[in-house]
Amino acid sequence: MGKILVTGGTGFIGSHTCVELLNEGYEIVVMDNLSNSKLESANRVQQLTNKIFKFYEVDMLDYDGMCKIFEENEIDAVIHFAGLKAVGESVQKPLEYYNNNIVGTINLLKVMNKYQCKTMIFSSSATVYGVDNRPPYTEDMQTSAINPYGYTKVMIEQILSDICVADSEWSVVSLRYFNPIGANKSGLIGEDPNGIPNNLVPYIAQVAIGKLEKLNIYGNDYDTPDGTGIRDYIHVVDLAKGHISALAYAKKHKGFEPINLGTGSGSSVLEVVASYEKACEKEIPKEFAPRRAGDLAVSYANAEKAKRLLNWEAKYNLDEMCADSWNFTVKNPNGL
Ligand code: WQD
Repeated sequence: MGKILVTGGTGFIGSHTCVELLNEGYEIVVMDNLSNSKLESANRVQQLTNKIFKFYEVDMLDYDGMCKIFEENEIDAVIHFAGLKAVGESVQKPLEYYNNNIVGTINLLKVMNKYQCKTMIFSSSATVYGVDNRPPYTEDMQTSAINPYGYTKVMIEQILSDICVADSEWSVVSLRYFNPIGANKSGLIGEDPNGIPNNLVPYIAQVAIGKLEKLNIYGNDYDTPDGTGIRDYIHVVDLAKGHISALAYAKKHKGFEPINLGTGSGSSVLEVVASYEKACEKEIPKEFAPRRAGDLAVSYANAEKAKRLLNWEAKYNLDEMCADSWNFTVKNPNGL
């Protein structure tokens, strides 16, 4: 049996998926350019699983570098996490986002074709539901975007879908993540963003550990029960296990299949804060601030298709997500 190539495998979701792949008995190869993650993450994965694997510091834009990986390893399938993912940054640097995410993915697909590897699990995002759909989101809804990052996900899904139509040998599952948070229960790996976090839970974590002064809650005048934004938070370990189920599905089915990975229910910012305060046993200093441009009031998944096709559903609740996030933060106050 060949190996699974994990691009972006030292990142937050990538590293957690590597743990689950290794625990499931897969052999993996990890590729990452380390632009937004650390090699220490791969060391922690090996420590956690007591398994070893090859790491290649290769960028998706390095066609020859990726060919070398396929020359040196029999790759059965690719789980493709690698990509720039900061919404705000994508607005400032659209060309960098389109080049890296889209040209990089096209490069990867060319290499996969060259070596007859035609199975991919793609890291997509609920962001493809745009602003015109109403939650709970279902996979048959029209996709769109309101920022370059979101457009890269919409466009890559289109490219993958077109490849599957042109060549019936291809099998692609595009996993649309909702809001991944939490950490492996060991506390050895977790969300370790560079600089000031954009996302809610890593920001709360840094307030709780004393590295940031207070949480700004972006808007308390949304049309929601407590006025703050609602999202579908999903434990990163649940998300990682979803990739294992998707891989098994992709091996038995051809064609392009978008699938939501969410819990199917939403939590407000204030509910997340309350859960985190329970986890860290201290009050999180917070202040209401104006709404953040581009934010939706409510976003959550219809999670039925993943249950039906993958026999997968999220198991952990919000308190467990926050407890595991806090456990990682306490054990790694300065990140990996
Ligand atoms: C969640 C809620 C904010 C920070 C983003 C990307 C999406 C995906 C997941 C990649 C919202 C509020 C946040 C803060 C706050 N990333 N908030 N204060 O925006 O749902 O999704 O990350 O695929 O593409 O858009 O996640 O964690 O940034 O925000 O009040 O300091 O928390 O307004 O309601 P979001 P988030």
